[in-house]
Amino acid sequence: MIQRRSGKELDLIRAACRTVGEILVRLTEVVRPGISTAELDRYAEEWTRESGAIPAFKGYQVGGNVYPATLCVSINEEVVHGMPSTTRILSDGDIVGLDFGVVRDGYYGDSAVTMSVGKTSDDAEDLIRVTRESLDKGIERLQVGNRVRDVSEAIQTHAEAHGYGVVRDFVGHGIGQRLHEEPQVPNYVGRGQNPRLKEGMVLAIEPMVCEGTYEVDVLDDGWTAVTRDGRLSAHFEHSVAVTSNGPEVLTRV
Ligand code: MF3
Ligand code: CO
Repeated sequence: MIQRRSGKELDLIRAACRTVGEILVRLTEVVRPGISTAELDRYAEEWTRESGAIPAFKGYQVGGNVYPATLCVSINEEVVHGMPSTTRILSDGDIVGLDFGVVRDGYYGDSAVTMSVGKTSDDAEDLIRVTRESLDKGIERLQVGNRVRDVSEAIQTHAEAHGYGVVRDFVGHGIGQRLHEEPQVPNYVGRGQNPRLKEGMVLAIEPMVCEGTYEVDVLDDGWTAVTRDGRLSAHFEHSVAVTSNGPEVLTRV
């Protein structure tokens, strides 16, 4: 069952998403060579609690694995779900993905960005740009009457036109009273449900794009997903409402 939000409910999701967007911007401002991923996580949790919201990822369970942190910090070949650590220090030339969600008054917001740490290669900058553009292309297709596959197709076409791989093992999702709701929103055209988009649906669109193969492995920590070929990967995410006036990007501030 795909939820459709209106009025008060949409306002509550807007508020959660605004907090996510604001804190994510602040986090990008403290990223620098020499900072540990645990320090970024500490800022994320502190600023979330100061705002009166609750971290959405901390304590989140997938198949008996409990996520221990507020933020996912994924560096270079790490695709998503990098776990913060005091011994993991950002270096000049890295690319880093910050993925962050909160729950406020029972409603969720979820967003992610990838950025350079100091000076990176032109290839890394291109990957980041094309991944951001792929998200934008997907969001453009979030129109009443389109289908989920229209979004998937726009994302995949743009990324593959640049020779990149689109991750299959993780997908976007509905969001609202839970972090992950129906429907799944793949970043590639595949089989499965292809629901029509209706006014009031709220979807988290999150392309994960790789320089090389789209195949990923999950490390022994049970969370960190890395590219199988060790090449770079980037990830952007927005929570977006489908409205009669087109897409409303709730986590963009
Ligand atoms: N933005 C990610 C997602 O939508 C974050 C999940 S991390 C988890 O799946 F720890 F909460 F699983
Ligand atoms: Co998400």
